[in-house]
Amino acid sequence: MSSTDYAAALSAIAVEFDVCLSQVLEREPDDVPRLWEAMRYAAMAGGKRLRPFLVVTCADICGGDRSAALRVAAAVEIMHTYSLVHDDLPAMDDDSLRRGQPTLHREFDEATAILAGDALLTLAFEVLSDPLTHKDSQIRSDLVFGLARAGGPRGMAGGQMLDLEAETNPEGQQDAVIRLESMKTGALFAWSCEAGAVVSGAGKEECKKLRAFGAEFGMAFQITDDILDETGNVDEAGKAVGKDRYRGKATLVSLWGLDGARDAALEHARKAVENLDFFGEKADLLRASAAQLIDRRV
Ligand code: IPE
Ligand code: IPE
Ligand code: MG
Ligand code: MG
Ligand code: MG
Repeated sequence: MSSTDYAAALSAIAVEFDVCLSQVLEREPDDVPRLWEAMRYAAMAGGKRLRPFLVVTCADICGGDRSAALRVAAAVEIMHTYSLVHDDLPAMDDDSLRRGQPTLHREFDEATAILAGDALLTLAFEVLSDPLTHKDSQIRSDLVFGLARAGGPRGMAGGQMLDLEAETNPEGQQDAVIRLESMKTGALFAWSCEAGAVVSGAGKEECKKLRAFGAEFGMAFQITDDILDETGNVDEAGKAVGKDRYRGKATLVSLWGLDGARDAALEHARKAVENLDFFGEKADLLRASAAQLIDRRV
């Protein structure tokens, strides 16, 4: 599949996804206006929608229902959005630009950003546990469990703690950096892919293979994020660059240099697609997504 076909598929899914996300974030008459405005401000500001793409594409591969997959994708994306809102706070990365617009705490205020993050995080679980998402309560429960594991202390939140510690330990060992990247970013990517299979009622083998694809994809993705922090530009990225070096953070770029980090990202992308043999041609779109990962500028 060509890079143009992949770009077209990614953007078609993003358009469909944004309609579903907007519905999930629809304010009801009694809702607290400022909180919902803040949640929508962060969530509807674009972003690559890569995790939703993975949920939906993996569900397609497993023959799942599109509307259920979109709601699962919405849960994953609002969990991701919460992580960005909190990641940007002054107590964490202290960033003022995200997705090409002022960060939530800059546009609103810090307390509102904390609350909007909390609200997005908890809304993700409300969406997954809603029978509207899936009529089978076992599948709903598996979805809730998987997202909780991916976002919690053994996943993203744990990785973010290690990431903060990596700022005071710029000489951190490579195993520690790999572990933190796989927790802070890999876990949610692994889950995005597995969730597409779970919501489609796929078997254990399909879930396992797609999860393994997502974990390697996520590692390659975070390494390219670290590379872009060094080589990217603010207009393309929609966020500040040069932050990791400024903060003295240990990343694979600081440890191995740009070429070493790029080789590592390529190796993770290569390992990712090894897991797709099982699915044959049905997985071509996923193969294309992994092939595009290394050259991304956004
Ligand atoms: C940014 O994620 C945070 C990382 C895990 C590197 P994305 O690069 O997917 O951000 P958006 O969703 O496109 O804004
Ligand atoms: C953020 O990593 C990962 C999560 C939000 C979990 P970064 O701090 O490197 O992400 P950016 O560069 O701010 O998007
Ligand atoms: Mg960070
Ligand atoms: Mg950050
Ligand atoms: Mg970064």
